[in-house]
Amino acid sequence: MNIKSVILAAGKGTRMKSDTPKVLHKIYGKTLLGYVLDSVKNITDENFVIVGHHAEEVEAFVNLNYNNAKTVLQSPQLGTGHAVSMVCPNLENYDGLVLILCGDTPLITEETLRKFVEYHNSTNSDLTVMSTLFDNPTNYGRIIREADNSLKCIVEEKDATPEQKAVKEVNAGIYCLNWGKIKAAFSQLTSNNAQGEYYLTDIIEWGKKHLLNVNAYILEDNKEIYGINSRLNLAQAARYLTDRVLNNLMFNGVTIVDPASTWISADTQIGKDTIIYPATYIEGKNVIGSKCSIGPCAHLRGDVVVDDNVKIGNFVEVKKSHIKSNTNVGHLSYIGDSELGEQVNIGAGTITANYDPLSKIKSKTILKNSVKIGSNTVLVAPVTVEEGANIGAGSVVTKDIPAWALGLTRSPLKILTDWVKKKIK
Ligand code: UD1
Ligand code: MG
Repeated sequence: MNIKSVILAAGKGTRMKSDTPKVLHKIYGKTLLGYVLDSVKNITDENFVIVGHHAEEVEAFVNLNYNNAKTVLQSPQLGTGHAVSMVCPNLENYDGLVLILCGDTPLITEETLRKFVEYHNSTNSDLTVMSTLFDNPTNYGRIIREADNSLKCIVEEKDATPEQKAVKEVNAGIYCLNWGKIKAAFSQLTSNNAQGEYYLTDIIEWGKKHLLNVNAYILEDNKEIYGINSRLNLAQAARYLTDRVLNNLMFNGVTIVDPASTWISADTQIGKDTIIYPATYIEGKNVIGSKCSIGPCAHLRGDVVVDDNVKIGNFVEVKKSHIKSNTNVGHLSYIGDSELGEQVNIGAGTITANYDPLSKIKSKTILKNSVKIGSNTVLVAPVTVEEGANIGAGSVVTKDIPAWALGLTRSPLKILTDWVKKKIK
């Protein structure tokens, strides 16, 4: 089906008190806007991001990372209705569905958006707005219904009567429109309200006036439309997202010893019977196999692939690496830009020196099957240790090591007999 999205991201985000545009703030290294774009990517064929404040930065982010999205400039920013009207020239001859979302609600899921569109289609709606219930609905637009429970209009907090303020059903800020039927509204909105803005919410009344089929879809889990306005909201959203991810992992057979201190990104897959120990932080996209043991205090930074039955122990940091099955990285190590074969053992304190700060080049470390690395080794990349080779503890490895050899850099140990006794005499 033909669906396009419009994502509103031109607003100021004053309460973040930041030089970074609000929608480019991150959770697990992924921008808020990135979450929203990902939620629609399997549903829509084209996406428009409305940019305004810090437009160049947001534009650059979208152009670099999302080739299915275009940015459209809104300047000045005269309200949410005005923002959507900016795409009218792009959709002049379009007659399919348009999903409207906000760039600052990262917790919305693809599953919910699919149900929302299904509801829109099955009710033959021309316009569907997503609503949800909050015990404390402050700051949201309120859903006002007729006596027969059908939709009447949306009233913003600042325009609401005390009676309307008591309503707990709110506008989630997500809409599905039959574009051909609703597009005319965007040239007819007025800014006759407390904020002097062109409100997108006024399309509800417009639709009713034009005898269109207008409905509300009630979202059960109100956390999905949790919006980010402040740093406090950002931390809370990360918590909500993490709870969702951890619950899902536990449901699928992963042990999370201490959910309160464990952070795992939504883009991480973990196989069953893997155990995640406390204070572990996993960000970015990762695939972890089954029967692994991760942590306590492990840090996986993204692009990490771990096969089955691997141990990643305390204070181990891993980035952009593939660790094959039955391999151990037990303690206090850094593994970056590396490939570790099967049955490899990494001694405590081993470092892959993958980055040359002068040339700014990152290089790879390759450890083939059954390699054993002694404690406190530095593997200076690019470097390959062939199958079965051993490295003696405390070595600095700057050359490739052939299969089944021992590589060792070590000054000979001196023993000075009675040295201490003489000193303290
Ligand atoms: C809006 C809704 C409110 C709803 C709430 C849900 C309106 C008038 N009100 O209120 O009913 O409950 O969202 O979160 O729509 N934006 C632009 N250009 C503009 C103004 C805003 O792109 O000129 C963007 C913002 O960046 C933001 C989104 O639109 O992503 C919503 O704007 P915001 O000012 O946060 O509206 P709310 O007051 O939260
Ligand atoms: Mg808002």
